[in-house]
Amino acid sequence: CGIVGILGASEVAPRLVDALKRLEYRGYDSAGVAVLVDGTLERRREEGKLRNLDAALGKNPLAGTSGIGHTRWATHGGPSTRNAHPHMAGRVAVVHNGIIENYLELRAEIEGFGSVLESDTDTEMVAHLVNRELDNGSTPKDAVAAVLPRLHGAFALAFLFAGEDNIMIGARKGSPLAIGHGEGEMFFGSDAIALSPFTDRITYLEEGDWAVLTRTSVEVFDAQNAPVSRGESKSSVTSALIDKGNFRHFMAKEIHEQPEVIGHTLSRYIDFGTRKASVPGIETAGFDKISRVIISACGTAYYAGLVAKYWFEKYARLPVEIDVASEFRYRETPVSEDEFALFISQSGETADTLASLRYCKQNGARIGAVVNVAESTIARESDVVFQTIAGPEIGVASTKAFTCQLAVLAALAVQAGRIRGVLSEEQESELVGALAEIPGYAVQALKREVEIERLSQSLSKAPNALYLGRGTNFPLALEGALKLKELSYIHAEGYAAGELKHGPIALIDENMPVFVIAPYDGIYSKTVSNMQEVAARGGRIVLLTDARGAAESGNAADDVVIMPDVPEIAAPIVYALPVQLISYHTAVFMGTDVDQPRNLAKSVTVE
Ligand code: G6P
Repeated sequence: CGIVGILGASEVAPRLVDALKRLEYRGYDSAGVAVLVDGTLERRREEGKLRNLDAALGKNPLAGTSGIGHTRWATHGGPSTRNAHPHMAGRVAVVHNGIIENYLELRAEIEGFGSVLESDTDTEMVAHLVNRELDNGSTPKDAVAAVLPRLHGAFALAFLFAGEDNIMIGARKGSPLAIGHGEGEMFFGSDAIALSPFTDRITYLEEGDWAVLTRTSVEVFDAQNAPVSRGESKSSVTSALIDKGNFRHFMAKEIHEQPEVIGHTLSRYIDFGTRKASVPGIETAGFDKISRVIISACGTAYYAGLVAKYWFEKYARLPVEIDVASEFRYRETPVSEDEFALFISQSGETADTLASLRYCKQNGARIGAVVNVAESTIARESDVVFQTIAGPEIGVASTKAFTCQLAVLAALAVQAGRIRGVLSEEQESELVGALAEIPGYAVQALKREVEIERLSQSLSKAPNALYLGRGTNFPLALEGALKLKELSYIHAEGYAAGELKHGPIALIDENMPVFVIAPYDGIYSKTVSNMQEVAARGGRIVLLTDARGAAESGNAADDVVIMPDVPEIAAPIVYALPVQLISYHTAVFMGTDVDQPRNLAKSVTVE
């Protein structure tokens, strides 16, 4: 979860631990460091808090000036000392954030070489692959270059090599990694916060970049291995714990963090190895006994709940009652003891949501909460908490919390489906496999940013906009319209695509941009008909779809943003990213206050 690397001028072990302490806010379950001691890689790893690692180093110090360190949030393999990073094979030590999706395939290959694996992690595969290249005579740089293209998924890596006291290599694909420049020292860190005790001169690696550091030099390469130069910036992290990185706004940073934080969140609720949903505390929900799920929330969290309604109904055959909390709390809805009530909230403090929770509790329902802030009131008052691991969300308009809420809800619905005997083991494994790939799809979705920025510039002149979608993409259309309203102050509405002809079609003319969220799925052809209705009336259509959808769109759209081809359950999560980017860039062009839009608050603790 947190990475630090140091090529130092003094002993590094205590400095690594110091830097890791700065990353504690992200959450972790184990920690470790590897240091070059007289050219040999040595490591200390401990389960639990950093003080355990500190104590281990106190007992058995590591003297050396080059080292890497890590705090781990378990993904592949449970939390334990043996699964803690750094992982080593032969002459290589590596620390890793994120998920390597083709882990099973790589594991089979490595076991085929006759190598003995000592952990359950995907990370260890990387160490073995790089070490094998070294054994075949490659330099560390060539070895890493050969292995990186073989790793699928979203990750950040930092490597150290036995016998190489003045070289450290890092790579970034989906998870952030920054270089820190010191005086005769060089650093890697998963963010500027980790590096703040050492330097404020930071170079942020871009997507697909990898870098070779010595104490006095930095070489950066892009995904095609072409040398590139990435500017240095001065980090403003001092005592403040939270930083925008090299993004202009927190919102942009939070949009880009999604591959990483969705991965963290999923890793708590699904098992990547066995492809099963494994939601801690799910028994409290009583999915085998209940007659209905009640969902209530506000704003963006409510739209996450609306998507979940489709999932609970389809995958678990559970009826869902859902309403915005400000209505639900006063409706005097019948609620009974054989129901499970679920409340979704980033802050865990929203007043209406909390009041709805208390209403359901008084009426005897079991209470569950999907919250981002573990110590929040809603979390404390619930029978079971399903936490999103999105990290602190600073931008007022919710982005990463929303996609993490969806990730949790998808895992819940799938496991509920299994518990209720609706899904077979094969169906569960297929759905969980689809969820496991979301961080990788999210990386691909973010690659559409440049064209979305260009589109947003022309759209920023429109006074109104419409968002359309069907199925689970209908709530996403509502979210798209909400985001555009709250950030750019452009009036926007979200509609179920099929409902267009019952009213909003009257608004269509050449000044009305219409965003259509439509992956190629079982109802795609119906959405194409709705697009034709808009096109026939001169509306300007921006279609978000995949390559197949683009080919079968009948040329109705003026602009098409081509998304990765994703399984149905992944679509509302992956398509949320371009939807967020559209409103972000439109707002930037309009010059509005992106992180703190007028009149809005991050946490609404009043009615
Ligand atoms: C405010 C925020 C929204 C958020 C809503 C619910 O209106 O501006 O972004 O979706 O509250 O907040 P919660 O913390 O309960 O998710």
